[in-house]
Amino acid sequence: MVIPRFKNTLKISLMLSVSLLLIGQSNSQDNDKQLDVTEGLFKCLTEMAKSDSGSFFVDNILGNLEATIEVANSESGGEYPAGSLVSLIPTEVMLKHREGWNEGTNDWEFIELNVSETGSEIIGRGTTDVVNRFGGNCFGCHQLARPEWDLICGSDHGCAPLPIDRETIVAIQNSDPRCVKSDDNDL
Ligand code: HEC
Repeated sequence: MVIPRFKNTLKISLMLSVSLLLIGQSNSQDNDKQLDVTEGLFKCLTEMAKSDSGSFFVDNILGNLEATIEVANSESGGEYPAGSLVSLIPTEVMLKHREGWNEGTNDWEFIELNVSETGSEIIGRGTTDVVNRFGGNCFGCHQLARPEWDLICGSDHGCAPLPIDRETIVAIQNSDPRCVKSDDNDL
C-alpha cells in the first residue's frame, strides 16, 4: 500500500511543478508592445550618452534620446520612456519596451551580450529569468531599486552591490572591444 501512495504523491508533485512552470512562463510579454531588438542596435559604450552621475550610458532606439537623458539625470528618479537603452558594462543592457509589454519588470527587458571587435551578440534576454556571468539574476538585484528609480540601481538606489568596484567598472567601460574599430578609423 505504501508504493501506490508514494506514486500519487509523486504524481501530484509532478503536476504541481508542471503548473508552476507554466505560471512562470505565462509571465507574459505583449508582442504588440515589443520593440524589435537587433544586434546592430548595441553601440560601443563610450559612443553612447553618459549619465550625469557618470556611472552608466544611455541611448534611445526610438530616437527619443532627450527624454531618456532627462530621466537618467534626474535627481528624483522617474519613468524611462519606451526605447530607452541603458548600459553600465558592455555586456549588460536594459531595454525599455512600450508601456504594457511586461508589467512585472515595468516593461524593461534584461539583455546579456557577448561583445567583440566585430560587434555584439545576444546570448541571453528576457524579463525575470536572465542571469549574468557572475551567476546573478538581473531582475533579482534591479527590482530592489526604490520605485521612483524605475529599476535603475545607480550607486545608492537600494540594490545589492555588484561584486566589482567602481575602478574595475570604469576600466571595463573604457576597454569595450566594439570601440576599437572606430578608433582605428579615426587615425
Ligand atoms: C548583484 C546584483 C546585480 C545583478 C545580478 C545585476 N545587476 Fe545590474 N547593476 C547592479 C548595481 C548595484 C548597479 C549599479 C552599479 C554602480 O553604478 O555602481 C547595476 C547597474 C546596471 C546598469 C546601469 C543602470 C543602473 O541600474 O545603474 C544596467 C543597464 C544593468 N546593471 C544591467 C544588468 C543586467 C542586464 C543584468 C543581468 C544580465 C544585471 N544588471 C545584473 C546590480 C546587479
